[in-house]
Amino acid sequence: MTAKECIKGRRSIRKFTNQPIDHSLLEEIIETASYAPSWKHTQIARYIAVEGELKDRIADECTNDYPHNGTIIKRAPMLIVVTIIKARSGYERDGSFSTIRGDGWQMYDAGVASQTFCLAAYEKGIGSVIEGIFDEAKIAQMLDVPPEREVVALIPIGYPDEAPVAPRRKPVEELLTYK
Ligand SMILES: Cc1cc2nc3c(=O)[nH]c(=O)nc-3n(C[C@H](O)[C@H](O)[C@H](O)COP(=O)(O)O)c2cc1C
Repeated sequence: MTAKECIKGRRSIRKFTNQPIDHSLLEEIIETASYAPSWKHTQIARYIAVEGELKDRIADECTNDYPHNGTIIKRAPMLIVVTIIKARSGYERDGSFSTIRGDGWQMYDAGVASQTFCLAAYEKGIGSVIEGIFDEAKIAQMLDVPPEREVVALIPIGYPDEAPVAPRRKPVEELLTYK
């Protein structure tokens, strides 16, 4: 698979087969995803893999604002909870912000890491969807996420049971300007 095939072929997958994901395969995907770039190579992304009853409890109790996300999590054999270590990316050693972007760089890094993870998973035949609407505080409590870390995204993963058509993309003329 070329990089272009990987980038263009990946879709958000919201229906999965019952086939579980081998932990060795997940570890291979995480190792590939670890090559994502990050602010001053701070590598703040941490992934929590949740399966079984606990996963279903997250689906039931932490997606009330958007129950569709809970339905997707229930269909998936595994849920990846993306967390970050706070106050590193975008910060100087003395705790001050490096730029006017403030702590925004840590979310930037989380996004770069999440997409790299999804592409690495796709290359191995694993479907995924990044979810942004969920009860962050409740998940942190259920998973004992320590206060120096923050839950930033959920990524249900599994073997795809659908092959959605790519939503239309904006044309290059709209995306790119030259000066
Ligand atoms: C930051 C972010 C948050 C998202 N949140 C959700 C979500 O809560 N639920 C969902 O079903 N899809 C979610 N998506 C998936 C988008 O809807 C999807 O990427 C978009 O429709 C394009 O489709 P594609 O990923 O198949 O190219 C999210 C994607 C991103 C990048």
